[in-house]
Amino acid sequence: MSNGRRPLVAGNWKMHGNLQRAAELATAVSRGALPETVDVVVCPPLCHLGAVAGAISATRLQLGAQDVAPWVEDGAYTGEVSSPMLKDAGCGYAIVGHSERRGLLAENDATVAQKFMAAQAGGITPILCVGETLAEREAGKSLDVVGAQLQAVIDAAGISAFTNAVLAYEPVWAIGTGRTAAAGDAQEVHQHLRCLAGESDATITGSLRILYGGSVKPGNAAELFAQADIDGGLIGGAALQADDFLAIVQAAANT
Ligand code: PGA
Repeated sequence: MSNGRRPLVAGNWKMHGNLQRAAELATAVSRGALPETVDVVVCPPLCHLGAVAGAISATRLQLGAQDVAPWVEDGAYTGEVSSPMLKDAGCGYAIVGHSERRGLLAENDATVAQKFMAAQAGGITPILCVGETLAEREAGKSLDVVGAQLQAVIDAAGISAFTNAVLAYEPVWAIGTGRTAAAGDAQEVHQHLRCLAGESDATITGSLRILYGGSVKPGNAAELFAQADIDGGLIGGAALQADDFLAIVQAAANT
């Protein structure tokens, strides 16, 4: 972390818990030590957004969604929730293109780009996830794969859209597996992504925040966040324990 970029740590709660647990977890995190220098976001399941928004109001903790509809205007889109609706619910951020949605729900680069643009059109900052599978890494294709995923969104949305977006590198093989990317390997990918964005607009190079995600824990967060191009984390499993999540937030503040 360096160059004046403000660290961001976001907790992705995925499809875990119930209403009571969500409110308790949000309350516990919001009452923890939240450093002034770090943006801290929690992304509960959709149906828990209201309860979490209530629990964290008047605290420094911010709210995000795990997904967003690819359309902005109201319409006949059963099951979908638009970015203006998320904004109304108190969200400032939405994760788009998480590998679980790409892999399990067949979201492709075009859909992800549409969601990215729809988020921004409704005043929500997208957290765009990219990452390679284990087979792609072992074939030496990591940089090509994540580069193509980013380029697809740059081509659709334009590079200037990245002045109000966050990127997250999440190697698929590291998500929920306990197997984290070595800090140096993660840094190599982050640097590549930053350079790629910078090829389209040099001013983006210094300002774009790129998070690392994939088995970030209190024990490995400091080393990851110490890398020059890692600006925080997208945290899954460890975000479900307030103490662990707060320790990761503290690691971001310290580096
Ligand atoms: P994990 O998940 O921290 O449990 O690996 C990260 C993510 O999927 O965002």
